[in-house]
Amino acid sequence: MSLPAGLFISFEGIDGSGKSTQARALAESLRGAGREVVLTREPGGSDGAEAIRRLLVEGDPDRWSAETEILLFNAARRDHVEKTVRPALARGAVVITDRFADSTRVYQGVARASLRGLVDQLHDLVIGIEPDMTFVIDMDPEVALARGLARGSGEDRFEELGLGFQEALRAGFFDLALSCPDRIQMIDGARAAEDVARDVAQRVRARLDG
Ligand code: ADP
Ligand code: TYD
Repeated sequence: MSLPAGLFISFEGIDGSGKSTQARALAESLRGAGREVVLTREPGGSDGAEAIRRLLVEGDPDRWSAETEILLFNAARRDHVEKTVRPALARGAVVITDRFADSTRVYQGVARASLRGLVDQLHDLVIGIEPDMTFVIDMDPEVALARGLARGSGEDRFEELGLGFQEALRAGFFDLALSCPDRIQMIDGARAAEDVARDVAQRVRARLDG
């Protein structure tokens, strides 16, 4: 049986680190090179997951317990993987997602609560796949928080948790990258967006050509 020719890429990092900007830039670059690209995001990326997203990103920061949040993120992710990610990979597309399971590992597993064991168990039970490549955009939380609040999108339930929370997230992503060196690459986000994009595109092309 031949392996699917698709490539699954995720962008991770603290809020406002530039993930969406970089995900878009990589999609454009690969489309320019003739690849089919599916650009998606979490929570969301399919109709059902987008409905669950609204429950997660709007309202009071204490609306859900950490355990309930983990269940909702996994419900959204399961739908996203079934309806969007797997079909695209099966037909050979490059799937670029703005966040995936590493966000749950760090937000719910480390920064909001110490529930990494539950996060890992649920992932193994109902998700079971990892990206081929993950880019963690590393940013000073103060700069990233200012960027996010300036955006004023209304989806600020998480950003309202403040600077200390973002610092815990940054450390969590750093530790995760150290523990998965074959999959996760740290990218310095404190550069012009075009420079970050060039760096990322080179790494992806090297993988696609290799
Ligand atoms: P995220 O998806 O990580 O929340 P965004 O890509 O939405 O981050 O970026 C947050 C804000 O910062 C946006 O207003 C975006 O235009 C801006 N931004 C993104 N990358 C850079 C960069 N390298 N330098 C300066 N501003 C940036
Ligand atoms: P997103 O819209 O990507 O936020 P931003 O653009 O600010 O980076 O994601 C919404 C929020 O959901 C964000 O604060 C991170 C959080 N989140 C988790 O806590 N756990 C998860 O598993 C995911 C995917 C996101």
